[in-house]
Amino acid sequence: MSTPLPILKNIPPNAPSAARTEHALFDSHGRQIRDLRLSVTDRCNFRCIYCMAPDVKYIPKMKLLRLDEFIRVIDIAMSLGINKLRITGGEPTLYPHLDTLLQEIGKMGLKDIALTTNGSRVRKQWAERWKEYGLNRVTVSLDTLQPQRKDAITRSHTSIVSVIEAIDTLRDVGLEPVKVNAVVMRGVNDDEIIDFADFALEHEIDMRLIEFMPLDAGRRWEKRHVVTAEEMLTQIRTKHELIAEEDPKASTSINYRFNSGNGRIGFIASVSKAFCGSCDRMRMMADGTVRPCLFSDEEWSILPLLRGGATDDDLRQFFIDAMWTKSAGHKMDRDDFERPNKTMSTIGG
Ligand code: GTP
Ligand code: 5AD
Ligand code: SF4
Repeated sequence: MSTPLPILKNIPPNAPSAARTEHALFDSHGRQIRDLRLSVTDRCNFRCIYCMAPDVKYIPKMKLLRLDEFIRVIDIAMSLGINKLRITGGEPTLYPHLDTLLQEIGKMGLKDIALTTNGSRVRKQWAERWKEYGLNRVTVSLDTLQPQRKDAITRSHTSIVSVIEAIDTLRDVGLEPVKVNAVVMRGVNDDEIIDFADFALEHEIDMRLIEFMPLDAGRRWEKRHVVTAEEMLTQIRTKHELIAEEDPKASTSINYRFNSGNGRIGFIASVSKAFCGSCDRMRMMADGTVRPCLFSDEEWSILPLLRGGATDDDLRQFFIDAMWTKSAGHKMDRDDFERPNKTMSTIGG
């Protein structure tokens, strides 16, 4: 994009010079933001117990960004150095224009495009098309390998077999690495930790075991429900020999290879070992609300600008100012920790 950056209005004079002079997004803690997670819909066909309420209230349709608005926002974010994009939801396959959106995004020159889905609606023809458009990889949520338990966790009746078929299909069409996310909750699915490791080996995918975070609509989260990454690793090591990987700086997961075959296992220790110091993420919800940090309720809406005739420079200024407010990190380990007021299904996974 050739338009020069506007004068930074709201960033204080002591901001690092890079934040004032480059086409880049910085927060006030010196972190450069390169990763946009865009929730294209808050609708979902599941009601996972660690996330949504059974009787969720959706964002009114009028407030959801249109296809052209999503594309404009991505374009502006790219002009500020965003090079990694994750399309999330809700369940993104419920967004009616997903196919066209992916086709358009594929032409934009991003370094990495990923999609997060619950896998229940993925079809082979779609996966092949997405790959052709330039989608790089897909992450699938699968929190249990037991059919009845799946109904209880997702509060829906979708077949586990179809999700596993979707995982294999995504891998086979080359949307790799296919990452499979399981939120591990004590007393719910923590007896499947070794099964998940076996699954990773068998299906040659990246299985990631996630510490349960206080983002559930039911507000039932308690620290005692969290199974730590350390505990999960110790269990898996009783069966598998694991080799530590060298992870990228901004990686959310601590990853291992198996000595005995392909596939990897990773641990996302958001609760026991926060990775906020290297966070390069920003999130935009389907109604254009920017949330600089998952765990801070500070939010900024781009919608009035988008629908009020704002110039590209105005939109850039909006992102620059919004991201400057990103908090240093969450305070889950402190007694005065306050839970965020939104769930992952609204914020974007
Ligand atoms: P890529 O690097 O793009 O592959 O993404 P990722 O490894 O972060 O994976 P994904 O987007 O699937 O996120 C995996 C899980 O990590 C999420 O479901 C969350 O549980 C957790 N997570 C992701 N981003 C954040 C974040 O910004 N803060 C915290 N605390 N947890 C996060
Ligand atoms: N704790 C941890 N991860 C969560 N996710 C949603 N809610 C939570 C939570 N309370 C993640 C899961 C899901 C993705 C969309 O968001 O990994 O697969
Ligand atoms: Fe980044 Fe906030 Fe998540 Fe920490 S809690 S990793 S700062 S988004």
